[in-house]
Amino acid sequence: MTATPPTQTEPVAFPQDRTCPYHPPTGYAPLRDGRPLARVSLYDGRPAWLVTGHALARALLADPRLSTDRTHPDFPAPTERFAAVRNRRVALLGVDDPKHHTQRRMMVPSFTLRRAAELRPQIQRIVDERLDAMVAQGPPAELVSAFALPVPSMVICALLGVPYADHEFFEGQSRRLLRGPRASDTQDARDQLDAYFEELIDRKLKQERPGDGVLDELVHDRLRTGELDRAEVISFATILLVAGHETTANMISLGTFTLLQHPERLAELRELPELLPAAVEELMRMLSIADGLLRLATEDIEAGGETIRAGDGVVFSTSVINRDEDVYPAPDTLDWHRSARHHVGFGFGIHQCLGQNLARAEMEIALRTLFTRLPALRLAAPADEIPFKPGDTIQGMLELPVTW
Ligand code: HEM
Repeated sequence: MTATPPTQTEPVAFPQDRTCPYHPPTGYAPLRDGRPLARVSLYDGRPAWLVTGHALARALLADPRLSTDRTHPDFPAPTERFAAVRNRRVALLGVDDPKHHTQRRMMVPSFTLRRAAELRPQIQRIVDERLDAMVAQGPPAELVSAFALPVPSMVICALLGVPYADHEFFEGQSRRLLRGPRASDTQDARDQLDAYFEELIDRKLKQERPGDGVLDELVHDRLRTGELDRAEVISFATILLVAGHETTANMISLGTFTLLQHPERLAELRELPELLPAAVEELMRMLSIADGLLRLATEDIEAGGETIRAGDGVVFSTSVINRDEDVYPAPDTLDWHRSARHHVGFGFGIHQCLGQNLARAEMEIALRTLFTRLPALRLAAPADEIPFKPGDTIQGMLELPVTW
């Protein structure tokens, strides 16, 4: 850990919009110069610490003095809509140890590497079907709605035991939850999802023979037995469903866009598909789509030559951390011959992404099949005219017009 104090004087605003969908916002340049810790100003003018150095990030993400309990009044809010739902229960991600440990233990068996490997044939089938449908209707196609979103959405539905027939409803509510635009949209989306899961749980309770989804297990093995209450089951269902499709969909759309913008890299990948797992890891590092992990200091912490005080908000910019040149030389270059291992694109510490094995399998299968099946795949609009997401939510393409 270096003890270089931040060089900037005025706090930088966080979050900011990207100018290129796969590079950190240009406005973060002073933060990169001031590693490993900077001061930022949040949407409401509240100051917070921003962790920007890789070694410090991993140390602090593993530090139990940083809490994820977002119901605490001092918990930092990056947007007004986040603040509006701060009092709602969030399983796993909003819970500290020891309760987090209990919750995580319940979930781990459904998300192991082995379970993800078992799901590969089913993921492949879903990917093939979506591509068949897209090819039958095109070219051209809008890749987000035709492929990048339905694939992870169908996979998580199958895993959880949520009917895919309801996808328009829950994809729409997830979008409002994560992107608003108004704070009231976010609140209403939470209410709508709560009501949806209430009803789904009722239906599952009435089934004589439970299905084999994660939600069926929660209802029959944990709710019926009184180990979990209804609100807890709903909060598990919500985070698994929302985190399970929105994030991976963004990685598939933005990963495709990024590869199409690097034709020489893509040619290598086509020739040597065995490089794909390394490429996925490098894309995770480079794209850092979940940029802004949130914590609250519960005690004073000496870090990066500064004192983080109890009650201070601490934010982790994964896009800046994953471009720390001490760990990744030429960090702005897409290069899967480096080792992108230890990136924090899935977080680190006790809250490190529960779905990472599943997400890796989906990204590998989706990208491999897409580029093999459609060797002439290319953008159907000028790259700088294709809309991408604003900086205050999970990063990705809003649309991706392609042809082949
Ligand atoms: C490429 C896709 C994905 C990315 C980039 C991603 C990213 C992340 C990150 C950065 C965290 C840590 C947040 C923090 O520490 O504040 C996280 C946690 C989590 N992710 Fe993912 N995720 C992805 C896919 C998935 C999938 C497919 C699921 C499936 C259910 C999932 C479920 C979760 C859950 C439940 C947590 C909270 C874990 C805990 O607190 O113990 N994620 N994810």
